[in-house]
Amino acid sequence: MVDSFHALAKRRGLYFPANESYGGVAGLYAYGPTGTALKRNVEAAWRDRFVSREGNAEMDAPTIVPEAVFEASGHLDGFDDAIVACPECSARHRADHLVEDATDIEEAEGLDLVTIEDLIASRDVACPACGQRLAGQPVDSFDLMFETAIGPSGDQSGYLRPETAQSTLVEFPRLAEYARNSLPFGVAQVGRGYRNEISPRNAIVRSREFTMAELQQFFDPDGDDPPLDRVADVTVQLLPADRADDPNPDTVAYTVRQAVDDGVVRPAWLAYYLGVTRQWLDRVGVDVDRLRFREHDDAELAHYATACWDAEACVDGEWIELAGLAYRADYDLARHAEHSDADYDLFREYDRPRERERTVLDVGRGALGPRFGNRLPAVVDALEARADRDPAAFEEDTVTVDVESETVDVDTDHLEVRTEAVTDHGERVRPHVVEPAFGVDRVVYAALHHSHAEDVVDGEARTRLALPAAVAPTDVAVLPLRADVADRARRLVDRLRRADFEVAFDDSGSIGRRYRRQDEVGTPYCVTLDKQTPADDAATVRDRDSTAQARVALADLPEALARLRDGEATVAELRRS
Ligand code: GLY
Repeated sequence: MVDSFHALAKRRGLYFPANESYGGVAGLYAYGPTGTALKRNVEAAWRDRFVSREGNAEMDAPTIVPEAVFEASGHLDGFDDAIVACPECSARHRADHLVEDATDIEEAEGLDLVTIEDLIASRDVACPACGQRLAGQPVDSFDLMFETAIGPSGDQSGYLRPETAQSTLVEFPRLAEYARNSLPFGVAQVGRGYRNEISPRNAIVRSREFTMAELQQFFDPDGDDPPLDRVADVTVQLLPADRADDPNPDTVAYTVRQAVDDGVVRPAWLAYYLGVTRQWLDRVGVDVDRLRFREHDDAELAHYATACWDAEACVDGEWIELAGLAYRADYDLARHAEHSDADYDLFREYDRPRERERTVLDVGRGALGPRFGNRLPAVVDALEARADRDPAAFEEDTVTVDVESETVDVDTDHLEVRTEAVTDHGERVRPHVVEPAFGVDRVVYAALHHSHAEDVVDGEARTRLALPAAVAPTDVAVLPLRADVADRARRLVDRLRRADFEVAFDDSGSIGRRYRRQDEVGTPYCVTLDKQTPADDAATVRDRDSTAQARVALADLPEALARLRDGEATVAELRRS
């Protein structure tokens, strides 16, 4: 089924292996005209929902990133997959996927290398390419990032980014300035990501270059709540980590509000975007009855994530990850603060200055210096910390502190604890991040599969893509049936294009064949100009799914089609009006 779908995708100009004239390279796919239009519409719908409607911003960063960024982010150490090589044919395989195929384990990605090696041996796993037994072969880590040398000298190492996220997170200081240091705010990127997959598979589902749509939602963990009311009643099917080991795990239906109140999804921002994600996937043609959110257990969590729920769609019996919704907490900003010279905190000004009292410790350094020598700064630090938390201790003759694993008594004659008034104008805040991260190609794939339908019309079998009008590659096809309506048809096409419709024009073959061609690529409406048109200056509008038809005056078509596209009317209603 999957292979025949890929063949169909090739025929319809949806997607196909790139560079096939030269034999192609596994994991590199091109979109044809139909697929490009669909993907562009999916991206536009994502921007509309996750950027515009949320009041977020978008940025566009280079896809080549210097090594220092990935050293800081942890990707250099932690962005690996498990690989095993066949001793007979030398084919390399994703070792965890072989384990998943040979056992009941649904997610083997989080298992350590030794466990994977043991499972390959105990389950007698064979090389999928040649059948040789793989027991005893070492399982290693394989770095998924494509390395490149930047510049002619080749001495500056860089990587093609494996996620857009990092090139948003590293620019946080500038983005915060743009947001006038005011939380919460979100910044998205839609762009290419690259992963040198060991075993690319399933065409655009697991490829080596792909399009990601990722939002970094920055918020104050101690203050900012999401606008939960907007999605509080949205029902999401959840598969919490503690149920995933069950051989037949059931999802549990929660409203977003319940998931927050019961503490099932934390923090609330993560639950909020689960609701937004479910609404959006529905809008772009993913069947939400075949959608679940699966929680990662600790072993599966990416190195930067504190929690993660994958939005997974069932396609031909296989659960495919369409998006990962991760709580990255302050992991990335803390790492960049530590590794770079930039400031990754916000300074939040108070509405009014706040007065407070501060404990101050005056230390007689002249008296303590000879005793402690170069340990004095560490002793002073320990004394100041003690004064801050326990000033009463300094009323005794001596005070005790721990310095570098040693307990030290200090005579309080040389120490004076006092309080002083200070005025604070604001405070430093290290934002936390929740990240909805979508694989655009996978969303396209799931929407294509879920909208693919076969039925019989007028006694003839047809295939159609029941894509929502919002993402269909073409909005409307204009079909003149006779030479004497050709000019009118051309003028209509121009008018519709000026009104922002994507229009196809088809004047060849029988009307039945023309309808089938448009049904196959998901065009929601066809407009047929026929022998009556010269007399009534009207055309027949036909609905792809119901095949209902209505006669509409040519002059009224742009407005009528806009109402259909925007869901304000159906073809049957047009007929009655
Ligand atoms: N940024 C999320 C991911 O790389 O999957």
